[in-house]
Amino acid sequence: MAAHEEVERSETELVVLDDESSWREFQERALRRAGYRQVNAYAAVCSCLEEHLNHGRGRRADLVVFGVQPRNEANWNHLRAIRKIYDGPMLATTERHDDAVREKVIDLGVADCLPVGEFGEEALELKVDTVLAAYRINALIEENDHRNQRLFVNILTVMVKILESKDPYTRFHSHSVALWSRMVGRKKGLSEEELIRLGLAAVFHDFGKIGIPEEILNKPARLTDEEFEVMKQHPVIARDLLSSIDLLHDLLPAITHHHERWDGRGYPAGLKTEETPLWARIICIADAYDTMASRRTYKDPMPQEKVIAELNKGKATQFDPELVDIMLEILAERDAEQQAKNA
Ligand SMILES: [Fe+2]
Repeated sequence: MAAHEEVERSETELVVLDDESSWREFQERALRRAGYRQVNAYAAVCSCLEEHLNHGRGRRADLVVFGVQPRNEANWNHLRAIRKIYDGPMLATTERHDDAVREKVIDLGVADCLPVGEFGEEALELKVDTVLAAYRINALIEENDHRNQRLFVNILTVMVKILESKDPYTRFHSHSVALWSRMVGRKKGLSEEELIRLGLAAVFHDFGKIGIPEEILNKPARLTDEEFEVMKQHPVIARDLLSSIDLLHDLLPAITHHHERWDGRGYPAGLKTEETPLWARIICIADAYDTMASRRTYKDPMPQEKVIAELNKGKATQFDPELVDIMLEILAERDAEQQAKNA
């Protein structure tokens, strides 16, 4: 055995659960001889198991070997109970090979089933090694996948910036919509974790514009009906482009529905009132506010009183009425702060 393998085995914690004491001892002996120094063997029914298997004590077992008695229902129930408190890799042992039992064991999330009547020490050692290696490789792949996805989300954020930089007046739009959305979300009582996700959804709310022709996107005048129909595709384009990224899955409803209206006359689905997800309703009002209050190629910023009048006009037609009140409250607070500063 290579030196690193020896160290790895000595640090690996195995738990053997078997009602049959002779098998239990055999397995414990075999695994210790193979270099696994931390082997804890118990009868399958044991009150101290929970403590040994779950994360509560800081570290959980690296692998559980469970002795299955195919005709003993209590033993099956015990295996199910262990699966509930332990989500690490498991190997089952049975008296002899039986396809039906193997299938049932694998259905319970156990990696494999080794017939004890046929294996020797080496077969057990090899199986334990294989199950542990497969589990570790999968964990590595998952971790890498997660890292790659993070990198991908960063690249997408840069793409949003590139998209917005084409038009100097929308350069900070997504960023501002994210700030306003988070302010509204906070007053609505969202948790810190939810506010982070909402902010990210807001950054990506117009990502679908990447699929809209530039002459429509940057037209310095009102769009024709035909052009507007094309423009209306952008939430669905964003949903389709971003749906392959697991890390953004929970954001898709907010991105897809940020142009729905409270009265159901929005797009793409014509959802009304609370049928539209809350995050989408929040982004909708933040987006409208930022567009009205900022300069665009085709218009000057709207004065504050006009913005307030428009928000009130949109109450219960375009916007969630409660969110209009929240938005007005935020604006009033900002004004008060400004006045205090100037005084
Ligand atoms: Fe949009």
